[in-house]
Amino acid sequence: MDKIIIEGGRRLSGSIPVSGAKNAALTLLPCALLTDEPLTLRNLPRLADIDGFQHLMNQFGVSTTIAGSRPEDFGRVMTLEAPRITSSVAPYELVRKMRASILVLGPMLARMGEATVSLPGGCAIGNRPIDLHLKALEALGAEIEMAAGYVRAHAPDGGLPGGRYSFPVVSVGATENALMAAVLATGRSSLHNAAREPEIVDLCNMLVAMGAQIEGIGTSDLTIHGVPRLHGATYRVMSDRIEAGSYACAAAITGGEVTLEGAKFEEMEATVQALRDAGVSVEAVAKGIHVAAEGPLKAITLSTAPYPGFATDMQAQLMALLCLAEGSSVLTETIFENRYMHVPELNRMGAHIETKGRTAVVHGVKHLTGAEVMATDLRASMSLVIAGLAAQGETQVHRLYHLDRGYERLEEKLALVGARVERVGGD
Ligand code: EPZ
Repeated sequence: MDKIIIEGGRRLSGSIPVSGAKNAALTLLPCALLTDEPLTLRNLPRLADIDGFQHLMNQFGVSTTIAGSRPEDFGRVMTLEAPRITSSVAPYELVRKMRASILVLGPMLARMGEATVSLPGGCAIGNRPIDLHLKALEALGAEIEMAAGYVRAHAPDGGLPGGRYSFPVVSVGATENALMAAVLATGRSSLHNAAREPEIVDLCNMLVAMGAQIEGIGTSDLTIHGVPRLHGATYRVMSDRIEAGSYACAAAITGGEVTLEGAKFEEMEATVQALRDAGVSVEAVAKGIHVAAEGPLKAITLSTAPYPGFATDMQAQLMALLCLAEGSSVLTETIFENRYMHVPELNRMGAHIETKGRTAVVHGVKHLTGAEVMATDLRASMSLVIAGLAAQGETQVHRLYHLDRGYERLEEKLALVGARVERVGGD
């Protein structure tokens, strides 16, 4: 398995191009099932999860073609065509590798009137149930049964009638599945306490470009008027606000200054505020966002929350930055039950972090020391990279496949701003 070796202590400076958003792409890709016309996605990030989803779509008979792009380009253009669906089953061997596969349930049900998807199971950060996905689809008129580790969903003969559902807990994936099912329903649907993440807005904007009728985009109350069919579209995936926030933490921890090209200030306000509270300068500039460390880092207190709150996907990266702040920070993870897997590894690098349930107290230390560390999940692995960039000496981050799921060509992007990072295989 690959690992990366990071030489710590180098100040980052320059510009980093931000890629298309993984968590937008993973909900835009299954929309190809909603039409028999071509759907072309631009600015698609080159990530393991995207490759996995492409393979899953091919399983259903969806053809996928990548437009020519030079190896040095970031992002790709992919056209997906689904004139005929040859299978409505998402098998265990694919779903277990990528839990976002559950996002084919709603669109497959809408297109075919039935869908069979393996239960995704849990992952390192939590048991990740899908009960809200199923309850929302039932509210839209689906019949749901579970058998042998699979979810089977059926629509009434005339198609999903649509309906009303109020989410007891904000769920990004369940909101996405419900939206993708409702757009082809025979009637009107309304979703309340829906997720408002920018990735949901990206999904709604693309569905509208395909002919869907959606009101309340960007709010937690969505109304969808079902239409008989959707047409194809060409759509540019939004920039990745979590990737941008991750590199902002990397710049700040090294005392550097970096412009994050393509980042959207208005999609990252909670992250911007947290960085500013920690003493980092963050400004919107023509090309995106400019981040500069100015003076000592300061301890902060914050909780993760659904958008527009501070993103859980940024918690591990911010925690790495706060390891070097003056004073003790208090972070509370309210979304997932086990999202502190990075803490023991950061402590092995000389951090002083104490966790108790959902709360972590990060006591600032003077410096971190490079070490061999193990990535456990996507954002935890980025947290270790950020710490390694500032640590004294060399850090080796093992099990890079976690990182490759969500960060496009990480070592090349870091090298653009002066980091010494090398990927080596076979550890
Ligand atoms: C999406 O996951 C993201 N993944 C996650 O990003 C992100 O952390 C999460 O939203 C929250 O923002 C993708 O978009 C592919 P949820 P999702 O449903 O949809 C509970 C990353 O690092 N819940 O909003 O699975 C759930 O257990 C990944 O890029 C239920 O109880 O998240 C959690 O506690 C990690 N029942 C909370 O809701 C359900 O049916 C929020 O989960 C669904 C969720």
